Amino acid sequence: MIKDLFAKIYKDKGPLRKWASLAEGYFVFPKLEGQISNRMKFQGKDVITWSINDYLGLANHPEVRKVDAEAANEYGSAYPMGARMMSGHTSLHEQLQNELAEFVSKESTYLLNFGYQGIMSTIDALVGKDDVIVYDVDAHACIIDGVRLHMGKRFTYKHNDIESLEKNLERATKMAEQTGGGILVISEGVFGMRGEQGRLKEIAALKNKFNFRFLVDDAHGFGTLGKTGAGAGEEQGVQDDIDVYFATFAKSMASTGAFIAADKEIIDFLKYNLRSQMFAKSLQMQLVKGALKRLDMLRTMPELKDKLWTIVNALQSGLRERGFDLGSTQSCVTPVYLKGSIPEAMALVKDLRENYGVFCSIVVYPVIPKGLILLRLIPTSMHTLIDVEETLQAFSVIRERLEKGVYKRLSASIAAAMGE
Ligand SMILES: Cc1ncc(COP(=O)(O)O)c(C=O)c1O
Repeated sequence: MIKDLFAKIYKDKGPLRKWASLAEGYFVFPKLEGQISNRMKFQGKDVITWSINDYLGLANHPEVRKVDAEAANEYGSAYPMGARMMSGHTSLHEQLQNELAEFVSKESTYLLNFGYQGIMSTIDALVGKDDVIVYDVDAHACIIDGVRLHMGKRFTYKHNDIESLEKNLERATKMAEQTGGGILVISEGVFGMRGEQGRLKEIAALKNKFNFRFLVDDAHGFGTLGKTGAGAGEEQGVQDDIDVYFATFAKSMASTGAFIAADKEIIDFLKYNLRSQMFAKSLQMQLVKGALKRLDMLRTMPELKDKLWTIVNALQSGLRERGFDLGSTQSCVTPVYLKGSIPEAMALVKDLRENYGVFCSIVVYPVIPKGLILLRLIPTSMHTLIDVEETLQAFSVIRERLEKGVYKRLSASIAAAMGE
């Protein structure tokens, strides 16, 4: 007799879902209310919000809101209907692509209605079964899922480890020589959890030794890094060595949508082969017009990025001066590592939110090793130095309480319920 398909779901809820009754609504699926800003409301209380990727503060910028509203008024939220290929193409989609291409110094770009699906099908379209993928083991889920679609060989290299990449490129080269295929290397521009930049320069330098094409997911770098804000490739002076550059509108652009950039020949191919775009609705006009406005602001208002970095530097140097471990971040992403159990982490975050009005994301095992708590702060140009100061003070207090075992005592009942 075959099993009921759902039997496993009733039995095993998975590593995160099993804590839902303790965590849902507070630690996961929290409801942040009010306008997107440096201060929002959580469960009726004002909190300094450090968990939103609105790096340049565009989400609620009055000029952006105006363009978004006008576009919604003019086009509604449907137009254009259908996939780009069939009936969803417009001159403004083309204009946005041209402007994005110029901004990231590539010949051509193609819009993606969501970054996640877009990058998955970019990987899918670029490789055939004879090709080999070599990618960073800490790559974002969308890259991993893209690699899952690949029918051929794939190798991971240790996170940001060039020696490991080299070894795997040697293996990949042997493999590709046998199959007659090529090699695709994938890294992120900025690793969003820990904030390290991908070692794009060193990876690109390996092109002197190996034959591969290089795809970079620069979700967190676009708008925040580089002289003009064109991202991690610009920052490291290797934009030309990135063969396929990806960024989403979900972070610095404070919107929805994404794009892929490359030589015209490659984009012309992708345009006809990205299944996630060929068989899905085109990006609606409100988002296209909104993206044109946001891109214009990225280009013409460098003060937004300067202000962002003032906050990033104040926050990161303030935390470091107080002896906090920020790992090896090289971007706006600000991880704070503390030692403690999951129940302690829960009590600590509750204290931060309830008593100090500081709201940040919390990451625990299995995403990071057992016994570590990662508090992840995302500074934006909306934050003020007062927000930073209040947060630094709060962090000093919670660390002291953690070290004194206060959260262990407070979380004893949670720990018992969790069997920790
Ligand atoms: C590194 C990275 N790549 C891709 C994505 C997916 O982009 P989107 O939200 O546009 O689907 C994200 C999250 O937004 C991300 O952090």
